[in-house]
Amino acid sequence: MGGVLIDWLGLILRWAHIVAAISWIGSSFYFMWLDATLRRREGMEPGIKGENWTVHGGGFYHTRKYMVAPEAMPDDLHWFKWESYSTWMTGFGLMAVTYYWGASSLLIDPTVADLAPWQAVILSVASLAAGWVVYDRLCRSRLSARPVLVFGLLFAALVALAWAYGQVFSARAAFLHVGAVIATIMSANVFLVIIPNQQIVVADLKGRRVPDPAYGAIAKLRSTHNNYLTLPVVFLMISNHYPFTFGHPHAPAIVAGVLVLGAVVRDWFNRYEAGATGAAIRWQWPVAGLLVVGLAAFSAWRPDRVAVEGAVTGAEAMAIAQSHCTACHASRPIAEGFDEAPAGITLETLGDLRRHAAKVRAQAVLSEAMPLGNPTGMTAAERGRLGAWIEAGTPD
Ligand code: HEC
Repeated sequence: MGGVLIDWLGLILRWAHIVAAISWIGSSFYFMWLDATLRRREGMEPGIKGENWTVHGGGFYHTRKYMVAPEAMPDDLHWFKWESYSTWMTGFGLMAVTYYWGASSLLIDPTVADLAPWQAVILSVASLAAGWVVYDRLCRSRLSARPVLVFGLLFAALVALAWAYGQVFSARAAFLHVGAVIATIMSANVFLVIIPNQQIVVADLKGRRVPDPAYGAIAKLRSTHNNYLTLPVVFLMISNHYPFTFGHPHAPAIVAGVLVLGAVVRDWFNRYEAGATGAAIRWQWPVAGLLVVGLAAFSAWRPDRVAVEGAVTGAEAMAIAQSHCTACHASRPIAEGFDEAPAGITLETLGDLRRHAAKVRAQAVLSEAMPLGNPTGMTAAERGRLGAWIEAGTPD
């Protein structure tokens, strides 16, 4: 029963996290688009940056943006912040339920670093906080006057972080943590910088002081970072189910590719929506396409593959599965904490192994995602032999 409850908690949190993230990303993309499509009209008051007309849901909307702020405070001002906060809170909850509660199987890989669950959890939480502190310092430093340089440093720091996580956590947890650090930075940008600056401007207006435009400029830098990080972070979150990404021996290179890929695609939308034409919007999609092909080719390149001698029989493949998989992947698992076959996959017969061959290859040959936590110490040679059997067409 305990296992079912924790699974349900995980499912509900995942659901809430996705819904919250959709509203956060949806509203932030909407406002980016709105900003890009604002147009100035003849005779417009000087404090207005532009206006925009839209049609939706059976009516017309007329939006205007006031820079830095309107002369008087409107009575009824709507804020957009809970989309972000709730995304972070549900995400952290989901991470706690899956990776902290299940630390010994999901967060820790004893062949990488033999941490105790409490050590791994402290390391995880501390690294999220440290990621924010370093990023925030960078943005507040004198370098902030050079946004492209800040971006480059942020990129390099995230790739280095992917490498560092790979030295302490399981491959899957390492990849997810890069996403979690980025997501924490994004949400903290809203919570600790963008909204507080906005509140200062509102307080100035209420006190009939002239607001300092610097606050808006600082917030803009942070929201531009958030904008370019959105697509990579979503990729890092969902790639958890694709072992050829996180399970690659050079996973940090895949992180680097994904950061660039997501930012390039986002850049197209930003420029296209702002009305750019010609060369400014022609390069992004071809570059993104090349990056995807490059990433796919790179993920198939496995420098660590072990050479396999002689043919592998079905009986040998079955014996490998019995040593390393069926404690969990059985209709009645004997591994502690498992009431039923995980992911509905049983690997008890040759037929089972054939039916799931492609997935087995992805999880246990092309990556070391399985066996979960590798409690039985499956070796590279065994992975190589299992892979050779699948590549030979799963013979008897
Ligand atoms: C300690 C228990 C355990 C062991 C041992 C184990 N697995 Fe798993 N396996 C799991 C869990 C838990 C999941 C579900 C993971 C998830 O949903 O993210 C899973 C999921 C899978 C999946 C489905 C992944 C997907 O596509 O969603 C495959 C395939 C798989 N395991 C293969 C194997 C193979 C092959 C072995 C042996 C080499 C193995 N597992 C050993 C616990 C285990």
